This record gives sequence, C-alpha cells and structure tokens, in this order.
Amino acid sequence: MEKIVIHGQKRLRGEIETHGSKNSALPILAAAALANGESVIHNCPRLSDVDAALRILTHLGCRVRREGHTVLVDSTGMHGYEVPDKLMREMRSSVVFLGAILGRTGRAKLCTPGGCEIGLRPIDLHLFAMEQLGVRLQEAGGLLEFSAPQGLAGARITLSFPSVGATENVLLAAATAKGTTVLYNAAREPEISDLADFLNGCGAHIQGAGDSTIVIDGVPRLHGANHTVIPDRIAASTYLLAGAMTQGRICVKDVVPAHLGALLPVLREMGCDMTVSGRWVCLSAPPRLKRVKMTRTMPYPGFPTDVQALLSAALTIADGTSVIVENIFESRYKHAAELLRFGAKISVEGRVEVIEGVERLMGAPVTAPDLRGGFALVLAGLAAHGKTVVRGVEHIDRGYESPELLLRSLGADVQRICEDEERATQKKPADAEKPDVRPQSAGGEENR
Ligand code: EPZ
Repeated sequence: MEKIVIHGQKRLRGEIETHGSKNSALPILAAAALANGESVIHNCPRLSDVDAALRILTHLGCRVRREGHTVLVDSTGMHGYEVPDKLMREMRSSVVFLGAILGRTGRAKLCTPGGCEIGLRPIDLHLFAMEQLGVRLQEAGGLLEFSAPQGLAGARITLSFPSVGATENVLLAAATAKGTTVLYNAAREPEISDLADFLNGCGAHIQGAGDSTIVIDGVPRLHGANHTVIPDRIAASTYLLAGAMTQGRICVKDVVPAHLGALLPVLREMGCDMTVSGRWVCLSAPPRLKRVKMTRTMPYPGFPTDVQALLSAALTIADGTSVIVENIFESRYKHAAELLRFGAKISVEGRVEVIEGVERLMGAPVTAPDLRGGFALVLAGLAAHGKTVVRGVEHIDRGYESPELLLRSLGADVQRICEDEERATQKKPADAEKPDVRPQSAGGEENR
C-alpha cells in the first residue's frame, strides 16, 4: 500500500499545468466505441479511472494503445456488448458505456453499478431515458439486459434532474438513433460540450450542448475522430486552493477560466487576488483566508460538488465561520471526520456543514475516504504544522495525475512512500548491523 507523507507550512509558488479532464475523457472513450473506426484522443490523463475505461474498451473488442497522453482506440473490430461485473465495479461511472454500446450494437448487458463512498448513485434517469429511445430492459439479480429490437428511435426526453451521466448516455445512444431526439433539462457541464464536440467530429449532428436543451439528429453511423480533451477544471480548482491555503502564489496555465466560473468569486471572497488572462488563472493568497458565509453546491454553472471537500479544507483555517450546503450527493462529507484529526472545528447536520476557522492545523495520520475527500486531506496537510500521513492514496489516484510530483514542483514537502518497501528497508539495516552471534571457533574472539 502507498501513503503520501507531507511536512506542512511550505508556501506554494509557481506555475502548473493540470492534466486533461477525467470526467470528459471517460465519456469520450465510451464514444470511441460508438464510432466505427480509429479515434485519436489527446490530453487523455493517466488516471486509474481512465485505465479502467481502457480495460472495458479492450474487453469489448476495441484495439487500444496509449502513447503518453494520447490514446488511440480502434473500434472497427468491436464485437462485445457486455461489461462484466468485475470491470463495472472497477469504476462506478462505467455506466456511461451503456449508451455507446446500445448505439453501436443495439443491445447491452451490464450489472447495476452500485453506489460508492459519496452516495447511492442510482441510475433511474439513465434507464428512463433509454426506455424513451425504444430500449427494453430486463433486470434480474442486479444484471441489466438491454435490447432494442426495433433499433433506437429519437424521442423528446425530459430529465427530472440535470444528471451529467444520464445526459451523456442520451447523447451517446441518440447519436445514431433513427430520427431526432430533443433532451430537456440536460446537464450543462463543460464535459457535456466536450463529448458533443467529439461526437460531432465523428459525424454526429448535436446542437445545444452546454445549454439545458440539446437536439440530436440521428445519423446512420459514426467514424473515428481526433480530439483533445479539455483541461480538468476540478484539478485546476484543487491546486488553486492549495495555493490559497499556504499563503502561496500559483498560476494554473492552459485552463478554460469560464470553467472555473463559480470558484473564482469564492476565492476572491476568501481574500485571494485572482488574475485571469487568456488560458491562465493566477492566485495570490492573503496571510490568512477569510471565511465564506454560505456556499451551495449546484449543477453547472453553480458551485461544483466536486470542489466542495477541497473548499471545506481551505475554510478550516479561515478567519470566521463558514457554511456549506451539499445539494448534489447525499453523503459527501466523509472528509469532515478526518479533518477533525488536524484540529479543525467542523459540524455536519444532514447536507449542511458548518466550519469554524482555527488559527492552525496540526499534522495527523489520516485516511482518504473518497477521491475529492482524499485530496482535501492532502490540502490540510500542506497547511498544517508538522507531519501528515495520508493513506488510501488509491482513491486520489483515480482523479489526480502524480499529485506529489506536481505539489513538489510548487515547493511542497511531499513524498509518496510504498509501505511494503519502507518496512523491508527498515528491517534490512538492523540485520546488517546485527553482530554475528554464531559461536566462534576455539581461540576466536567471543562476542560481548
Ligand atoms: C458526474 O457524476 C461526475 N462523474 C461526478 O464527479 C460529479 O460529481 C457529478 O457528475 C456531478 O457533477 C463523472 O463525470 C465520471 P449526476 P454523475 O448523474 O454523472 C442523482 C468526481 O469526483 N442521480 O449528475 O454520476 C445522483 O444520485 C465525480 O470526479 C439520480 O438520482 O452525476 C446525484 O445525487 C464524483 N438518478 C445527482 O443526481 C440518476 O439516474 C447528480 O448525479 C442519476 C443521477
């Protein structure tokens, strides 16, 4: 098992570039299975969730090759329509393959993805939307068998909630359906627009992505395309908050500032000087952060739920009391209990988190509860006095590419340590120094 060891109180300074968006790369990789041909996807982050998606593509019969941050997917030979339980469970959001497999083969077989650390993650909106497109579902023992004997047919679909994943599945399933689909109350996240751009590059006819109403005119088939994934707005937000918490000065380059729209005013309310120019966002932190009276997480363009845990960490050392309301997921405060170990003062009541800022945090041994909550503990360790050890690093590796290298480039004292190797080396020096206790031959010098 690995752990991240941090010696805090280093001011972070410098320029960084974040990796491509995890939440954009995943649906685009699914879309590569829908497109019958070779796709070249640039700026594809090296993350464990992306690796899981590549394993699903390979299982479906696609040829997959990675060259650095470029992934090539040739789906010409795709023959499968089933995602086995083991692969589904590796990555919860593998449900996004549903629309692509249905669009390509007219059928699909996968198990219910199940919940995760932040909530039950139901897929009722996905199933509702697929049925509107003419898909039949048979469910038994957690196995979902989808079929479309008459093929997929365009429909007018209204989502009761602007679900990101359900929106993505509609775009994927409707792209090659017969006729036109109009999707109302669609998610507006930038990752939706990025997926639509890729699909249109493959020959799809999708208009309105990024707005609440999206129109998809079905086409008979799609071909492969070249595409560059948008920068990861959540990773960019994470590193800006790292600078904010350490009285730092950070510039994140090659981001889309509009994608950070809801975070920038919050950072300014915390007392940070923010400069935006072109694809650069720079932050200069105050000696002490100010509290933020009220933050509510909302669908894009509201404050992103994925930044909630990271903002919570920053507010633990702000001057004053802050309130956060988590409106998207029902149990996304697991990081709070771990932050208390640093000496933070937090109380949680349902979806409301109240954070009373303290002067200083003290380093502590903690365990990541989930992806973003895990990085919230790293942020707290960067600001804390003394040593912090974060275990459960596998959660963090799902969504952040080599975080310890990037933080070290900004001046942080951060190490990733493999505990097995550490134990092995700890054992070895003792052996090496141990005096030879074997009985000496007659006349030899007895060991004392
Ligand atoms: C995507 O998850 C992201 N994941 C999440 O990022 C992100 O937090 C979320 O969108 C919201 O922005 C990926 O893109 C891979 P939703 P998704 O469907 O699609 C409920 C991260 O940290 N809901 O918009 O699963 C659901 O329970 C991850 O990178 C239903 O009730 O999010 C939740 O309360 C975490 N029924 C809310 O809607 C459904 O059928 C939002 O879910 C679907 C969703």
